[in-house]
Amino acid sequence: MKLYQPFLLCTLVLLLSSLSGGCTPRALDMEQVSPKERIVLKFSHVVAETTPKGMAAKRFALLVHQRTQGRIEVQVYPDSRLYKEGEELKALQEGSIQMIAPATANLTAMFPQWQVFDLPFLFTDYAQVHRAMDSEAARKLFSTLQTRNMLGLTMWDNGFKQMVAKKSLVNVVDFQGLRFRIMPSRVLEAQFNQLGAQTTVLPFGEVYAALEAQTIDGAENTFSNIYSKKFYQVQPYLTISNHGYLGYIVLANAPFWHNLPPDLREILEQTLQEVTVWEREIASRQNYQDFESILQAATTKIHILTPEEKNAWEKALMPVYQKFQATVGEDLIAAFR
Ligand code: LMR
Repeated sequence: MKLYQPFLLCTLVLLLSSLSGGCTPRALDMEQVSPKERIVLKFSHVVAETTPKGMAAKRFALLVHQRTQGRIEVQVYPDSRLYKEGEELKALQEGSIQMIAPATANLTAMFPQWQVFDLPFLFTDYAQVHRAMDSEAARKLFSTLQTRNMLGLTMWDNGFKQMVAKKSLVNVVDFQGLRFRIMPSRVLEAQFNQLGAQTTVLPFGEVYAALEAQTIDGAENTFSNIYSKKFYQVQPYLTISNHGYLGYIVLANAPFWHNLPPDLREILEQTLQEVTVWEREIASRQNYQDFESILQAATTKIHILTPEEKNAWEKALMPVYQKFQATVGEDLIAAFR
């Protein structure tokens, strides 16, 4: 009987497998789209798949696959697998990839007005950010992007930035003499200079190694990026400052987009709109969850700025506004505030 039972089980499993096509899940290709007919859209980004942007890109790919019955295949390349931050934009313009969603700071060398999003303490919550993103002023900003083969489609959230560093950052004076990694934005450079620190521009994919090797003393980023790229494991201090905001511009290669069959382009645009609403809903939740995971890991000492400490940071950083008033535009700053 002891020998018989496994034998019976095996026979049953084999029988069921042959009826259902095997135990392992199989992808069903019901669409019958020939490779020639299929349009491939490469979506490249630099963050982990578990971050708000990573999840939104995957969701977009899945929904597009379903809604176009496989006529468009969105291939998502996360974690700088195809292009590093700083290389993506050129690759998009040349048409090697068709979509990207870089942080706004990455566009500021070409479009200095976009530095508005980097201004310190510009927003205090997501609702303010969304009002700015969807404002008339933002629409005008978007129109500046319709050049050099680029098409601005929408804006996605990441979240508010915090500081990780080799030493505790509580008072303004604590920044003195330290070197921070920044994205390529003059406003971000000015922000740290104003606090007495130096900066190094580095692509996102190289930040962990630089923090570990101590070629930089700290960096600013959101909880989702700090957690997914393990910055909290190589930096003993984290300050919750919410001093700046990190958001994304979703961009397409314009010739690719305009040459799409109109019915497919409409599906892409509608899906992107839906995914934008979804992405903005999950971003703050994901950042909060990642904050909790960092807290639980207990590898970094966390300090939450008190209102007084925050006021002192804010006051120290006000000259950055004066410095960039002309470049960014007084009206734009006023509209966003
Ligand atoms: C960074 O470079 O810190 C961010 O732009 C990464 C990202 O895309 O969120």
